[in-house]
Amino acid sequence: EQRMAESDICLLYHDLLLSRATHTDKSLQFLENFQVKDDDVFAITYPKSGTTWIQELLPPLMNGGDFTSVQTIPNWDRVPWLGSTRAPLVLDTMSSPRPIVSHMPYHLMPATLFKSKAKVIYITRNPKDVAVSFFYFYKMASFLDDPGTFGEFIDTFLAGNGELLRNIWRNPELGDRILYITYEEMLEDLRSVLNRVLMFLGQEISAEALDRVVSRGTLENMKNNKMSNYSLVPEDVLDRKKSTFFRKGISGDWKNHFSPELDAKFTAVIQEEMKGTNIRFPWDE
Ligand code: A3P
Repeated sequence: EQRMAESDICLLYHDLLLSRATHTDKSLQFLENFQVKDDDVFAITYPKSGTTWIQELLPPLMNGGDFTSVQTIPNWDRVPWLGSTRAPLVLDTMSSPRPIVSHMPYHLMPATLFKSKAKVIYITRNPKDVAVSFFYFYKMASFLDDPGTFGEFIDTFLAGNGELLRNIWRNPELGDRILYITYEEMLEDLRSVLNRVLMFLGQEISAEALDRVVSRGTLENMKNNKMSNYSLVPEDVLDRKKSTFFRKGISGDWKNHFSPELDAKFTAVIQEEMKGTNIRFPWDE
């Protein structure tokens, strides 16, 4: 099928097309053979659902409120992205417990995850806002195809990259080792989400430290953190004249982008994909 064709930009990995800028055969082999440790903590996201945000929040939650790594290590090395080219260079040298992010669907995670006791935090975001955020990211990233108009992008998104919902980890196999949170809940009450995360991880930090995690985790503060705002990435890779990595950071921007027709088309796909599941999201209400 044409939509599953490899190109200069994408490589085909099982049933996924992945950017060659961030994945190589070597990094994918590393993912496959990765030895998950019992105290590893995974944050699983679909792109544009809060990955960079959780990379800011997890380290201090896991190390008693210490912000050193957030201030000194770029997000992609601080909480490496399993599957990406940086992961093999970073993960073997990290001290435990290791916070790790990944965009991989359930069936492409390393087998050792399922045999381990490692925990998984799964973040979802309203797929319509994900699509808007992704559209602007496609515009600015020189390593991704030109997205065309928003309508064209949505068609491609639904046809080829619309695996967003299919990728959602619904699998009960992980039992109480998986915690589901949403981007919208984080926006609404970050502190209470972080308390759930702490409880889930069996970690405690002082109320003052939690205050600091919450206040440093605002969009404004992350925009100013050179280690998180992607300013270390050269302009020819991420063109800031076309968009910015941190955009509005709100919920509901889709309403400014979707025509009623496009909305109906998108909603129909979501409803079809969600049939038979009991997952409910805050934007359903
Ligand atoms: P927008 O493009 O809608 O603004 P990811 O890190 O997974 O690529 O996701 C990027 C999206 O998360 C962007 O969404 C970005 O603005 C948003 N984001 C990152 N940090 C945030 C924060 N502290 N508060 C709110 N939104 C945040």
